[in-house]
Amino acid sequence: MSAGDKQERQPGTTESGLPFEPVYGPDALAGFDPATQLGEPGDFPYTRGVYPSMYTGRPWTMRQYAGFGTAKESNERYKQLVAHGTGGLSVAFDLPTQMGHDSDSAIAHGEVGKVGVAIDSIDDMRVLFDGIPLGEVSTSMTINAPAALLLLMYQLVAEEQDVSGDQLTGTIQNDLLKEYIARGTYIFPPQESLRLITDIFSYCRAEIPRWNTISISGYHMAEAGATPAQEIAFTLADGIEYVRAAVASGQDVDEFAPRLAFFFVSRTSILEEVAKFRAARRIWAHVMREEFGAKNPKSLMLRFHTQTAGVQLTAQQPEVNLVRVAVQALAAVLGGTQSLHTNSYDEAIALPTEKAARLALRTQQVIAYETDVTKTVDPFAGSYAVESLTDQLEAEARNLMTQVEELGGAVSAIEAGFQKNEIEKSAYRVALEIDHDERVVVGVNRYKVDEEEPYVPLRVDPAIEAQQCDRLAKLRAERDQDAVDRHLAELKKAAEGSDNVLYPMKEALRARATVGEVCNALREVWGAYVPPDAF
Ligand code: 3HC
Repeated sequence: MSAGDKQERQPGTTESGLPFEPVYGPDALAGFDPATQLGEPGDFPYTRGVYPSMYTGRPWTMRQYAGFGTAKESNERYKQLVAHGTGGLSVAFDLPTQMGHDSDSAIAHGEVGKVGVAIDSIDDMRVLFDGIPLGEVSTSMTINAPAALLLLMYQLVAEEQDVSGDQLTGTIQNDLLKEYIARGTYIFPPQESLRLITDIFSYCRAEIPRWNTISISGYHMAEAGATPAQEIAFTLADGIEYVRAAVASGQDVDEFAPRLAFFFVSRTSILEEVAKFRAARRIWAHVMREEFGAKNPKSLMLRFHTQTAGVQLTAQQPEVNLVRVAVQALAAVLGGTQSLHTNSYDEAIALPTEKAARLALRTQQVIAYETDVTKTVDPFAGSYAVESLTDQLEAEARNLMTQVEELGGAVSAIEAGFQKNEIEKSAYRVALEIDHDERVVVGVNRYKVDEEEPYVPLRVDPAIEAQQCDRLAKLRAERDQDAVDRHLAELKKAAEGSDNVLYPMKEALRARATVGEVCNALREVWGAYVPPDAF
């Protein structure tokens, strides 16, 4: 289809092409049985929310994603966010860290500290959390391929604060399947990634039992163009793959499933997004009970974090983004999120300034403390529109999950390019609609201004790369190299066999092995993943 052709869009359809009757009447709920399809909040299938009291008991966690430059600069931002009232930390790492390379490696040049904080060793981790009591905060770390390393360094720093593993709470993203589909920070091939992920499940059950071991993410697929139905279908299909891998490794489903978590986007299309979250909870509860025989109610609950949709923010009239983020945040809260990140209004232009980051947090606080949406649970329950949309999205998502299953599951479907192709088709449709003014983007294709006011962005000092390289040179000169070499050799031996790799990995990191050295040791044994469409 050439750019000139526009795909006829049926009148009255939602973003994901769902039939959306402009007005839902009583007939929309014909045959609807609240008792079996809804249940009460905190009851199976959790359509109305995972906890009986939800926000009437405790507001969601206001968890602002942040991190840039050196560990010291990020540590200062975390302390600012805690002072402004954030309820949990959320660490962004720079690309070299996310890809398992040291700041002084050739491939890292120009990226050190740019999209997140640079962490090369336990020395940096110690600075990152300096003055932050790890037994009292819940910390999310957006880290995937090297997730085990960052978790272990977090645990090592906590041990230095006399905080034991069973006191730690938080989450590592640790979701490699969506990296192959939409984000790209993978290192090892899929099967080796699944082995590392399931090793993390069993390590955390033994050593860090309150830690959420994975944040199965739909956010990045949604930001790449996935419709609401595709977002939940492909995310839950990834979740099924992880559960299967953990069960195949000999773990009982109720041993690890209570600590699986999820991560979705929230867009300005409030009604459809609320329905999306409700449908996702209902599908997951049935899958875990019917396919995996899970018995522990916590194994059936889909607990999730939400981030407001970055792709909906505009560089034009950036203040308008404050309104978009408020609407998106409301959608997440009305949909029952457990944790929420609100984007800063200037995110479409540059790294958020401190003032913009504070405004993003204030947006959540206004919703939590100046509105009445926390005074009841699942306020849309019984709504003609939202219950119908929930059913429609559930049906569409289940259909997509069946297609993934017919391809052999999420990994096989990824290797066939299925999820990526479906997402690209949706992204193309949306782009055409914007181009043809069928989809309004205020300030971009309608309600534009002639003169945009100047904006002063926050800049990351390029000198931090040299600083980080000096820190690494000093670390390598000071440490006990024989101990590092010994522990790396033990790590490689575990990776070649079936022993849990996190135990020798922890000792290597304690001996001040770097992120790059540990990942390179695993690269030597497991190889690095090359996507099927790489050439
Ligand atoms: N009644 C009873 N108990 C309640 C309750 C209620 N109403 N509300 C909360 N609780 C309890 C919970 O049971 C839990 O107790 P537990 O730890 O003993 O189980 C405790 O209070 C904390 O509540 P939650 O677990 O619901 O909330 P958390 O904030 O701790 O966890 C999560 C939320 C979704 C489960 C977790 O995985 C999380 O925090 N995820 C965050 C992920 C994140 O921040 N990702 C950032 C991604 S950014 C990115 O990818 C890059 C960018 O490019 C997009």
